[in-house]
Amino acid sequence: MAELSLGVVGAGYVGLTTAVCLAHLGHRVRCADIDKSKVDALRRGEVPISEPRLPELLAEGLRTERLRFTTEIAELRDADVVFVCVATPMGERGRADLRALESVLRELGGLLRPGTVLVLKSTVPVGTTARVPELTGRDDLPAVSNPEFLREGFAVRDFLEPDRIVIGGDAGADRVEALYSAFDAPVLRTDPASAELGKYASNAFLAVKLSYANELAELCEQVGADVRQVTRTMGLDDRIGPAFLRPGPGWGGSCLPKDVAALRRSARDRGMRFGLLNAAERTNAVQHERVVHKIQEVLTGSPYGSPAGQRIGLLGLTFKAGTDDLRDSPALAIAARLAARGAVLTGYDPAVPAAKGGSIPDLHVVDDPLLVAKDAAVLVVLTEWPDFRDLDWAQLAQLADRAAVVDTRNLLDADALARHGFTCRGIGIPT
Ligand code: UGA
Repeated sequence: MAELSLGVVGAGYVGLTTAVCLAHLGHRVRCADIDKSKVDALRRGEVPISEPRLPELLAEGLRTERLRFTTEIAELRDADVVFVCVATPMGERGRADLRALESVLRELGGLLRPGTVLVLKSTVPVGTTARVPELTGRDDLPAVSNPEFLREGFAVRDFLEPDRIVIGGDAGADRVEALYSAFDAPVLRTDPASAELGKYASNAFLAVKLSYANELAELCEQVGADVRQVTRTMGLDDRIGPAFLRPGPGWGGSCLPKDVAALRRSARDRGMRFGLLNAAERTNAVQHERVVHKIQEVLTGSPYGSPAGQRIGLLGLTFKAGTDDLRDSPALAIAARLAARGAVLTGYDPAVPAAKGGSIPDLHVVDDPLLVAKDAAVLVVLTEWPDFRDLDWAQLAQLADRAAVVDTRNLLDADALARHGFTCRGIGIPT
């Protein structure tokens, strides 16, 4: 394929991953972001997020000069294809906030050459791609929806080894499909609305699956079953599959909560009550409270006992292991509930330096897990970092006031911990 000149707008998770991976595939890529300090850092080869392989691929792109960063969107004017990868955060009443996207499209409308293909990678409500002519003020810029399915912590891998590539649109779609020709993945050519909805439907389904697993875990505790065995039984059925059935402190991050809310809202805007989504969200909020009850029970003997004045050590602060992203983290939601009830909180996360954690209210973030254990009445595991298994639990037991653990990810080996005197309560596991 003839080498194309590509533009990417937005250097966040999606934009940066898209830009470095497209450069890795051999294209010339110019990536624009309005954040000058971010652009300066990227030009120096510094990656602002913690993501495997991103630093190496960024260095490669800069070295080969296939990848360049700019704060001036006007520098994308000669691109053949422009990927729009700006954030669409949760806005008013759960709706996706499209202000950044709309302003970028307006700007692009003022500068692109006729025929440049606009690719919407941002997660956008159904109908947004169809509005591109109105938003750009142009009818000579073909637009396609090409949603991303990147997981944080696996962004590069998910880009370079996708499960599927979805291209929604007609004009311009062949050119976009050709960019992915190196990949061995099914390509779904759809209409723009189906591509847009397919992205929301996927994330929302994952959220429903997780809320189901979390409710199931609660029932397991009530009836004396082990959720690990129950979900294994389910997961071996090809129709269900084993992934996304691990109970935890609730699902979070920058995508699932906002996408469930936006999908629920767009159904509501069309007069439909998508009850399953309401239920998944409600279950998720309840899950935070269930974890708090479990901690209170360990501390006081009653799920409703007050944690006031008790020292609680948190292991894991981000929304899942393998990322430094604190956005919409269930760990922080649980911490906030405990802090509101007067608990004294110390937290440690392998990916969150104390300097960065200073901004988390009511939580003293430390750089050493031993400091979390010091005088703690309970330790709470909130993310599934394998590193937590390898901590010096004998030493933690000596430092703690009481050797008690609440393991919300069922990560630890309770028998091994018991040898160091720890009692360990998981989620959905008989005690
Ligand atoms: C999610 C989707 O998985 C990606 O496919 C999608 O592209 C991305 O959102 C996006 O829209 O950009 P991500 O936000 O990185 O990716 O997070 P996930 O790995 O999906 O995890 C979501 C939440 O579910 C986390 O809080 C995680 O701890 C929780 N989880 C996941 C569980 O509690 N149990 C599990 O078994 C799996």
